[in-house]
Amino acid sequence: MNIAELQKRITEEKKRKKICILAHSYQSKEIKEIADYVGDSYGLSLKAKDTDAESIVMCGVLFMAETVKILSPQKRVLLANADAGCPMAEQIDKEQVQLFKREHPDYKVVAYINTTAALKTVCDVCVTSSSAVNIVKKLDAKNILFLPDCNLGSYVAQMVPDKHIQLMNGGCPIHARLSAAEVERAKQQHPEALFLVHPECKPEVVQLADFVGSTTAIMEYAVKSDKKEFLIGTENSIAEQLAYDCPDKHFYPISKQMLCPNMRLTTLVDLYHTLTGEGGEVIELDNETLVNARKCINEMIALG
Ligand code: 13P
Ligand code: SF4
Repeated sequence: MNIAELQKRITEEKKRKKICILAHSYQSKEIKEIADYVGDSYGLSLKAKDTDAESIVMCGVLFMAETVKILSPQKRVLLANADAGCPMAEQIDKEQVQLFKREHPDYKVVAYINTTAALKTVCDVCVTSSSAVNIVKKLDAKNILFLPDCNLGSYVAQMVPDKHIQLMNGGCPIHARLSAAEVERAKQQHPEALFLVHPECKPEVVQLADFVGSTTAIMEYAVKSDKKEFLIGTENSIAEQLAYDCPDKHFYPISKQMLCPNMRLTTLVDLYHTLTGEGGEVIELDNETLVNARKCINEMIALG
């Protein structure tokens, strides 16, 4: 069967069963073409809250499917590929945070949404790459523990200098691969190009940027800009998608290493099997986790 035929079958199946398909912007083009909603972590979490479909399939990684379940506990939520996890989400465990809170009762704990549901239960508020700066500014606390991404945390600390931000040793192994030397080299090769970067990259890389933002913000900036050339400092799927969206512009991925193997695990066939009941993983969370993790995400939605 070719791609178009499989897409047609998936579309028929999802309509028949009233299933909503969510896809992160890093997913393959053929999945994004038939998803009901494509976006960054924040956009997906809002969609998860608002959709009235009874079943939701997430094409992304586990923490994203957990977020959907936390916000819609009565719905059937599935992750299209059961092996798609985010290594950053697993880096810090609940006990480390509980110990920190006991020793530092004056701190508020801010969790990047790329964390497990279990970790969210002991954090005060979630943030995404697009909401982090705004939420930390609004948060009623001077001292903040920001976890797990120390690169995003450093960026927030720089943008909100009046707060004390304590970091832990975590981060995205994919974005951390990009070096300042690679960016400098790419800038020499394409002197007219603007450099657009995700804040999960290292501070010395982010410092070289013309624009810093989430995956959606990077894409919106590039589409609206009058410029014709862009260096893309995030997962390479974004440069590929932008090339389709704006064929009159040029988008250069900076490093061949910027490929997230977890985001690339989900195939159109996985999605088809999830819809037909032969694949995917049903997300199950116990009631205590649902209730406590939900407070953390609701706080983000309220502040964001
Ligand atoms: P955003 O979707 O928030 O930009 O995050 C990027 C990412 O790495 C998701 O896993
Ligand atoms: Fe996790 Fe990084 Fe992959 Fe996003 S790109 S899923 S943060 S490892």
